[in-house]
Amino acid sequence: MRKAGKLMYDVEKKTILRLHLTMTFLIAPMILCCCVPSRAQQVSRGTIKGTVTADQGEVRGFRVAAHNLDHRLWYTVFTVKGHYTVPQALPGRYEVMVYEPDYDSPKEPVQLGPGENKTADLAVKKRQAAASDPNIEYVDSMEEVYPPGPGRDLMKENCTGCHADQFGRMHYTREKFMQGIEKMTETGPGYNKWAIALPRTIIPKSQKEMLADYMVKNFGPGTVDKRVRIDPLVLDEDVFSKAIYVGYEIPADMQFVSAGDLVGADMVDGVTAQWANPEKYHHMGAAFISPKNGDIYFTNRSSSAIMQLNPRDSDPSEQWKTWRIKGSDYVHPSGLTVDKQGHVWWAELRGGMLGELDPETGKQIRHALPELAGAVHEVVIDKDGNIDFDLIWGAFFGRLDATTRRIHMYSTPTPDNGMYGLAVDQHDNAWGAGWQKGTISEWQVETESVKEYKVPNSWGQVRRITVDSKGIVWATEHNVGLLARLDPATGALTEYKIPVNGAQPYEAWADRDDNIWIADSVHSAMLKFDQKSSKFTFYPMPQPHQSIQKIQVADDNTIWLPTRGEPICTGVHFYPNGYTANAPPEP
Ligand code: HEC
Repeated sequence: MRKAGKLMYDVEKKTILRLHLTMTFLIAPMILCCCVPSRAQQVSRGTIKGTVTADQGEVRGFRVAAHNLDHRLWYTVFTVKGHYTVPQALPGRYEVMVYEPDYDSPKEPVQLGPGENKTADLAVKKRQAAASDPNIEYVDSMEEVYPPGPGRDLMKENCTGCHADQFGRMHYTREKFMQGIEKMTETGPGYNKWAIALPRTIIPKSQKEMLADYMVKNFGPGTVDKRVRIDPLVLDEDVFSKAIYVGYEIPADMQFVSAGDLVGADMVDGVTAQWANPEKYHHMGAAFISPKNGDIYFTNRSSSAIMQLNPRDSDPSEQWKTWRIKGSDYVHPSGLTVDKQGHVWWAELRGGMLGELDPETGKQIRHALPELAGAVHEVVIDKDGNIDFDLIWGAFFGRLDATTRRIHMYSTPTPDNGMYGLAVDQHDNAWGAGWQKGTISEWQVETESVKEYKVPNSWGQVRRITVDSKGIVWATEHNVGLLARLDPATGALTEYKIPVNGAQPYEAWADRDDNIWIADSVHSAMLKFDQKSSKFTFYPMPQPHQSIQKIQVADDNTIWLPTRGEPICTGVHFYPNGYTANAPPEP
């Protein structure tokens, strides 16, 4: 069938060629108009629909994935009152399944011909729930994990940016806590050569003692684990009744590469690159739409590569191009952007450089930074073409000047205020999410210096940041489930609570109507924040445990997502408001 599909494609190309020749030989253009079917009509799409039933529990907004084996595409839709529809599906061989964390689903084979409507009903079975652990106490908030006492503010200021609610699970003796504190404040965590940041925050002996006392009192041997409770989402099916995700599977031969030299446990999501062995699943980091040709570029950390997707091509062997980053086995590319010339820029968390690729020639340049400064996390381009970047295990904004191509770096007033997300405003100021110390930080183009705004209720982990069309800055507070709004004109900072306990907002990016799209990693949901009504609405993501790093909104308000760490790795095109016959990939 794959061959048949390809053949059809070739025949079509030949038809077009023949018509072209006919045209050149001046045969009545009129005939052409009425006889040449458009490509979309020639191989028209079909529909797959059905019902989902469960032996236990309510079927509400369940993910249904239709996997087109010929085109290596995944369509994911959601049940509404127990029914689902995959509209505008390309012909081919399918496997259709429910993809919910607590249910086992059959895989129904479907053979969809052009223009056909097929039905696949799915009966799912609830899995045995894991017994709850009596040694864990679930609480509402970070304030409850960390009860008041001397040391708490110090910890909130310096430690929870990386550790979130983890200290409540350590149960060390005072001596062991003290060893950890000394390591953190003198040499820094040992898993990563760039994790040198913390020792620059001077903590005197008396404060280390205070921290150790606080930790052993609240989290010492014999204490119960305290964790922030994660409530399930209550889904409103009307919100996503038309939503569809179209996932393009990455090439099957993508290599896994290893970081090789790592120590330490798999601690916090923000503390990345700790795996010593090749990863089990692929990890794409950032998505960006090329302003030059509309192709979508992604970083792939597990392959240390840059990927390019042409979503208009329905032939999976032609869709993707990949470039392994040269000069280093493993650089951990993180953020990515594309300039007007079509050059791709990436930030290296492991390599510590700023990368540049010309996809037309394949030429790569990895720009070394003027200071041995830390791990480069994000990269964005301002309206004048300057390349801005920020550092996470360091405390810098940086800029590669568009005209001189020189790199300049600017330190933050607070030492070690590692930056996570980055965005640029209408005046070319750069805005960084202060991950380690819980700030929103602004690199001001006028003064060439950094200004900080303390985010009142964050416990560190201000994660990602965006600037809307009015110049308002929005940032996620990952470990407390808040969305911060900063008006740079007045300095006013407001925080909005995501209305489900335990939400972990990751990405935040404004769409063309200034809705703020948020990726909640713990609920595997996309959230839309409507500024006018101050309301959040929830859309489930295509996979149950999906954590999304950097999204990109297209002109038509559809969204590109990179996926990672789950069995299916795809570049995903999210249509929150439905899918039409002319949407890519074209038949
Ligand atoms: C830059 C991120 C980061 C910050 C900030 C940070 N830690 Fe850590 N911490 C880590 C990582 C990663 C590990 C585990 C790997 C290691 O020990 O090198 C760790 C381990 C620890 C441990 C356990 C050590 C052990 O031997 O198991 C303790 C205790 C600790 N940190 C306390 C703190 C305290 C207290 C602070 C604030 C003063 C702090 N950390 C700030 C990243 C961080």
